[in-house]
Amino acid sequence: MKLTSEQIAFFKDNGYLVLEGVLDKELCAQARDRMWTSLPENCQLKRDDPNTYTGPFKEPDILDDSMHTRLGYRWQLREVSTEPLFINLMYNPELCGIAEQLLGEGTLRAPTVGGQAMGSEGPAWPGGPVDPAINEGVRGFYCTLPYGDKPQEPDYGHTDGHPFNLGVVGVVHDVPPGGGAFKVWPKSHRRLYPTFQMQYDQPRIPFYKRMPSYKGIIHSTAYIDEFERIMKDTTPVDCWAKEGDAVLWHHRLAHMAGHNYTDVIRQAVLYDFCRTDLDTCRMDPPQENMWRDWSDELGKNNDTYSAEFARSQRLTD
Ligand SMILES: [Fe+2]
Repeated sequence: MKLTSEQIAFFKDNGYLVLEGVLDKELCAQARDRMWTSLPENCQLKRDDPNTYTGPFKEPDILDDSMHTRLGYRWQLREVSTEPLFINLMYNPELCGIAEQLLGEGTLRAPTVGGQAMGSEGPAWPGGPVDPAINEGVRGFYCTLPYGDKPQEPDYGHTDGHPFNLGVVGVVHDVPPGGGAFKVWPKSHRRLYPTFQMQYDQPRIPFYKRMPSYKGIIHSTAYIDEFERIMKDTTPVDCWAKEGDAVLWHHRLAHMAGHNYTDVIRQAVLYDFCRTDLDTCRMDPPQENMWRDWSDELGKNNDTYSAEFARSQRLTD
């Protein structure tokens, strides 16, 4: 499958693209089996009983481990990251072909079967997110349990702080609207990209035990101001999807794993496509041409897209 000029134009303008049927359904099924068999036998969450699906996790199901987390409404399995099944699911010929069309032929860095999984080294700093420094496979299998009668919460996005070129959310089970498949703030990539100090990285304050007040990622004032404007002036798009669909997204796009107000568990496998030259160009400042590190085909695309196409991408404004 090759992306059409309209699909590329939409991605360029909005920073995301929903693709139908780009994951092997048999592998999706095997991935779900792997997820469920990771649970201990005495777990209250039971695959064959949807009445147990609603979160949050309760004792004794809670597990606060970066390789396998069951906390609140999040169920995240990272220990599978470099298993052949998950690499074959996401780094598949169809998605790789599409990623190459966007990033350039022969530019992709391949994952490593049996390599180190994200989460291998715990959190990035005490109380912080999982350290993305190590990641030789997929990010992991990320689930969101149904919120049940949890009061409705406002949407609030974020951008990711580690370097990669093109994100993919692989949806391995039907996630209806409101199910938290993936939520994006369209066009935010173009507004946020220039506010970073570096194209792909973000500076971090190291954690010192003897001086615990400051730690973690530093955002520029320009970023904070623009981000707040985006949260106020842009309606996020709920990228609901079917089993086998995927959402591609630009590395500077504001996004979140949406709240789940359905009765099904949101089940997705996340992968970051990286170019081999990310190692050398990651420290470059934002470029005048924000598409410098993308394919010529994408860079030169000045096409438009129809209102009907935008609707097919869940964009209604
Ligand atoms: Fe994120």
